[in-house]
Amino acid sequence: MKNKQPSFLDLLLEAHIDLERQGPGSPETVLKALKFLEPLDRFSQIADLGCGTGGQTLLLAKRLKGNITGLDLFPDFIEKLKAKTKAENLENRVKGVAGNIESLPFEKNFFDLIWSEGAIDNIGFEKGLKHWHGFLKNGGYVAVTCPSWITKEHPEEAQKFWSDAGSHLDPVEKNIAVMQDAGYEFIAAFVLQKECWTENYFKPREQVINEMLKKYPESDTMKEYAEINKKEVDLFLKYGSHYGYVFYIGRAVK
Ligand SMILES: C[S@@+](CC[C@H](N)C(=O)[O-])C[C@H]1O[C@@H](n2cnc3c(N)ncnc32)[C@H](O)[C@@H]1O
Repeated sequence: MKNKQPSFLDLLLEAHIDLERQGPGSPETVLKALKFLEPLDRFSQIADLGCGTGGQTLLLAKRLKGNITGLDLFPDFIEKLKAKTKAENLENRVKGVAGNIESLPFEKNFFDLIWSEGAIDNIGFEKGLKHWHGFLKNGGYVAVTCPSWITKEHPEEAQKFWSDAGSHLDPVEKNIAVMQDAGYEFIAAFVLQKECWTENYFKPREQVINEMLKKYPESDTMKEYAEINKKEVDLFLKYGSHYGYVFYIGRAVK
């Protein structure tokens, strides 16, 4: 990107496009979630919603035999997913589509499995699960991560940060009840390890942001972007025992 006065969105895309992941998670977590979904050969149509550049999409493609469609709001991320798919010779089974998880461009009752890491809170856990339910076959599965309160204490500073970022945290028990009300049998929920945030996401992102600060020395937007990212990290180091990403796994009952 040659623009010397990048927008906030330009910066967000540039900071994330070459990262392995665009949010907290890990290959170990993907494999742990898949354990709840065995036998895996029953999944022939899979969606990965909010797939980013597809770190987990390609891992899923290696573990599952079916066709996988990754969908993300940002066409640049989808182009990157397509390039990685080609490099791994998985083009016959992995597709990338630019679109919105709030209004999916797919056939109803089509998927055996809807996977989604780190995206559903952008539209709301309940709204997302209800909308996606229509795209699952009867008995199809959903496996989704969502930032959630994992203790009874909900520090106000953390609450404010998340709501300013357009997100909203609920306790795990509430989300499980929401999942059941949205038409799913609850299968499992587990909290992602801290390293999914610190080692796998914050550290590589910080390295890129430090380089970008040198690249855009005149940009106030860049400074502001770096500040917000630092605040997110500091907040997690301070309050990360109270909130975390939780993997929720359910089965659609129609
Ligand atoms: C935290 S990142 C996670 C990316 C990837 N799943 C991962 O775990 O590395 C959230 C992703 O959701 C996408 N996203 C957010 N809101 C979306 C929406 N309304 N429709 C489609 N994608 C969305 C973002 O573009 C971003 O790639």
